[in-house]
Amino acid sequence: MSKTAEKKPWSNRFSGESDPLTDAFNSSLAADKRLYRQDIEGSIAHAASLEKGGVLTRAEYLSVKNGLEEILREIESGGLRIENAEDVHMFVESRLTEKIGAAGKKLHTGRSRNDQVATDMRLYMRGAARTILDLLRGLLDAFLTLAEKHAADILPGYTHMQKAQPVTLGHYLCAYAEMFLRDLQRFSDGLKRADVCPLGSGALAGTTFPIDREYTAKLLDFPAVTRNSMDAVGDRDYLIEFAANAGICVMHLSRICEELILWSTNEFGFVRIADAYSTGSSMMPQKRNPDVAELIRGKTGRVYGGLTALLTMAKGLPLTYNKDLQEDKETVFDIYDTLEICLQIFPRMLMTAQFNVSAMKAGANGGFMAATDMADYLAAAGVPFRDAHGVVSAAVKYCEETGKTLQALTLPELQAFSPAFKSDITEILKPETMIRRRDLPGGPHPERVRENVRAIREILLSF
Ligand code: ARG
Repeated sequence: MSKTAEKKPWSNRFSGESDPLTDAFNSSLAADKRLYRQDIEGSIAHAASLEKGGVLTRAEYLSVKNGLEEILREIESGGLRIENAEDVHMFVESRLTEKIGAAGKKLHTGRSRNDQVATDMRLYMRGAARTILDLLRGLLDAFLTLAEKHAADILPGYTHMQKAQPVTLGHYLCAYAEMFLRDLQRFSDGLKRADVCPLGSGALAGTTFPIDREYTAKLLDFPAVTRNSMDAVGDRDYLIEFAANAGICVMHLSRICEELILWSTNEFGFVRIADAYSTGSSMMPQKRNPDVAELIRGKTGRVYGGLTALLTMAKGLPLTYNKDLQEDKETVFDIYDTLEICLQIFPRMLMTAQFNVSAMKAGANGGFMAATDMADYLAAAGVPFRDAHGVVSAAVKYCEETGKTLQALTLPELQAFSPAFKSDITEILKPETMIRRRDLPGGPHPERVRENVRAIREILLSF
């Protein structure tokens, strides 16, 4: 296969030699060669529009279309390497011209690389967002399946990393499902803004050629065209939005990974992460390290860094296109790749993890987690809540000093703190009872967890 020698389209305007270091610095090919498919797709649609406007003859259009399709096949079969060009757009165009001659040189009529790259990136973003949405649907399914399974399994709930009140594992899993559902909604919403066609915006001010923008958009399956050519070539907010959404999503992943790491410790023993997602130590024979969860947690820095890079890249740019914008690709691709692999691997790790429900349940008996219910009991019996709070605080202090649990206190011991305690307090302090009595929307009661699962599944139907 012949190599495509790089001859710059602007060589007639310049007389000085080009510097190879500048050429390398200026080139985005290493990153944007990934866009060859979108570039070819966009070019075919543009050529069709040129034909419709009478700029290309039918024969020229067909030759351009066939040539581009052939280039696509050459690239995908591995026969054509994408190299020796400043960027993918110039690579495809010069290869086309090499192949079909004069008609190839007409392809760039009424188009600039500015609206071309914006189109490529919007096409890319559309595919990327759709893949992320699919992965999030899979992730949510994993959470909801597990939540149903563990709807009634008791788990100690924490605030400030201190034992607070019992919840259910299903309740906990649904909490994450809610977060990832919002992530999915954010990506879906962002996709609507990305899914518009910039072709026809030219360098910044449109074109004098009779391009039918709606027609081009339709061919590329864009539901709408951008409304302002300067905005279309000068802004990248749809990429930044994706990066921000990715940032929030990996933050959520990172939080649950942190919890799985903690829960898999000898101290907690709530979960055992499967071998496939753990590694050993080269020195310490006993180790089973939660590397996958740690790596996902670690990847957040990379995604946040990318978001910051994109925001900073764009913040000082006068309208419209500036070369700074070329920097978007490497960063967006890296964010996408990072999020994609995390969303692929996390549900597998989650679904194969073994939850130790008896350790969780045992955990829910410790830490004076019944204290609130005890105070509520007194308040329901007519003791003002502030006083009830004080009574129970004193009982907890007493338990700490005597090494007892609240449940272990006898009725006479309790009545020494308040005469309002009656024999039914024993039942109230059982974790099962505490869960059962929290039967309100959004609560940890198994039925409410199942309700939560159903509601999320219902919402998912429209995404
Ligand atoms: N490689 C460029 C980019 O990614 C394509 C657009 C170049 N436009 C220009 N006016 N130099 O942004």
